[in-house]
Amino acid sequence: MNTTITIDGKTVPFTDGQTIMDAALASGIYIPHLCHNPDFEPHGSCKLCVVSVNGRNMTSCTMPASEGMVVASDTHELNEDRKVLVQMLFVEGNHICPACEASGNCQLQASAYYLNMLSPHFTHFYAPREVDASHPDIFLDLNRCILCELCVRASREIDGKNVFGISGRGIHTHLVVNAASGRLGDTDFAVTDRAAHVCPTGAILIKRQGYRIPIGKRTFDQRNISEVQMESSQHVEPDDERKT
Ligand code: SF4
Ligand code: FES
Repeated sequence: MNTTITIDGKTVPFTDGQTIMDAALASGIYIPHLCHNPDFEPHGSCKLCVVSVNGRNMTSCTMPASEGMVVASDTHELNEDRKVLVQMLFVEGNHICPACEASGNCQLQASAYYLNMLSPHFTHFYAPREVDASHPDIFLDLNRCILCELCVRASREIDGKNVFGISGRGIHTHLVVNAASGRLGDTDFAVTDRAAHVCPTGAILIKRQGYRIPIGKRTFDQRNISEVQMESSQHVEPDDERKT
């Protein structure tokens, strides 16, 4: 049965089981997101998709739509909250965009531009993080990992492997590689795996193809993230999903 919710004053239809995010994207309404990818179950970690539902804040990617909900999303207050979340992600990792191969194609960076983030605002953690170049074709840089678990989900659910996992608690939570050595080169990870192409940041990079797109022609040089993610919610481009 089709019923409706209201998002920013617009009447939006939804079907049973759809989340607020699903209904919004299907109706052409953009809600910022990082850990959400339409091909995977919701994760609810980045909190960028926060909306106000009948006056209470909740994550739109995990909240099922129900008849008569009144949702606010594109408000100054919520966008300011989202900007703070992105700032927190920037200071938690070592996001040195000028030297990152994903710059211009990175959803975290594009979200910062979209939300008009001018500086990280908070004190940088400068956490010492490992890079793992043990795999012949893929480079893993935990300095840029935002713990969205898209690689974990893709490896398990689509590739039928179990290359990645999450370990630790609180601020010590981190991505791990499921090998006795902990090294990517000792797993069956392949450059053709979906998990190799799903990272929204520059944490998982394909070797020998960095900086191949000239500045001005990179994904987010051309369009902002709302346009790109709206388009990608209709069809996924498996060759490079950093922009989805
Ligand atoms: S490596 Fe990339 S895809 Fe995997 S959890 Fe970190 S940010 Fe997400
Ligand atoms: S997109 Fe909803 S919490 Fe990340």
